[in-house]
Amino acid sequence: MSLEIRDLSVAYGRRTILDGVDLVVERGRLLGLLGPNGSGKSTLIKTVARIVKPRSGTLEWDGLPLDRLSRRDLARVVAYVPQAIDQSFSLSVREAVVLGRTPHFGARPRRRDWAKVDLALEQLGLVELADRPVSELSGGQAQRVLVARALAQEPQVLLLDEPTSALDLRYQLQTLHLAHTIAAEQGVATVVSIHDLNHAARFCDEVAFLSGGRVLAAGEPGEVYGADLVRDVYGVGVDLSVYDGFTEVHPQVKPDRTTRAVVPQAAPQTAPQVAPELAKVAS
Ligand SMILES: Nc1ncnc2c1ncn2[C@@H]1O[C@H](COP(=O)(O)OP(=O)(O)OP(=O)(O)O)[C@@H](O)[C@H]1O
Ligand SMILES: [Mg+2]
Repeated sequence: MSLEIRDLSVAYGRRTILDGVDLVVERGRLLGLLGPNGSGKSTLIKTVARIVKPRSGTLEWDGLPLDRLSRRDLARVVAYVPQAIDQSFSLSVREAVVLGRTPHFGARPRRRDWAKVDLALEQLGLVELADRPVSELSGGQAQRVLVARALAQEPQVLLLDEPTSALDLRYQLQTLHLAHTIAAEQGVATVVSIHDLNHAARFCDEVAFLSGGRVLAAGEPGEVYGADLVRDVYGVGVDLSVYDGFTEVHPQVKPDRTTRAVVPQAAPQTAPQVAPELAKVAS
């Protein structure tokens, strides 16, 4: 079983954001979506979550086109954690997380639903905060509530849009470890957009670099990462090393503390050419 994204193009008005994207995420695998600000990571994730309508292309889970599913059936397959956190609602943490169970229960949550909620609260370190209003949480705490809600949903496809952007180092590592574990142990096809190349190398089974609307390179981090690629995508020179069996990327930025930091050049804006065999993540 796999999430298959085929020849996907997405535009906002006349601006093309994604142009012929092909990606396959197998059940049990964690795919890291990388790329500069504005490269279309959130757009890709929102298109799979059916928040944004594609211009063309197909999205399938296990051979089933996602656009044929009712909203309720879609929510049984796909869980989505947005990049931006809305803390304006006045629910408690526990109430916010049980919303993830909505596609599974009838009139009201049952014992099994609350058990899933308790498990998700525990997995995200939220037990102590369970009765607090989400509106009173810190940004990182609220971000963990969104991840807990998605886990309680028990999806087959889990989409996490920068789930670690507001988290401290410990929760960044914990959340990515959890995403990897849930993918592997529960057979969930998981996509995480992330900016930290080193965390992506450590936790993701595969990575895909989006740039200029295309998948510029994809595959296992250790095989895909290269100084030329990082320079092409981000306009930053890097050195690579291997630590603890994982590839690490070290930017060649030497701040001059007496004057100003060396600012890397802007990343290229043109659509790069993609080798077809690189534009696919399949195992
Ligand atoms: N609703 C929208 N209407 C018009 N343009 C949009 C909309 N949402 C995003 N865009 C544009 O689409 C492009 C891709 O945005 P997207 O949010 O997908 O990028 P991203 O890779 O997730 O970036 P970041 O790393 O900053 O989160 C950007 O140029 C953005 O300005
Ligand atoms: Mg984004």
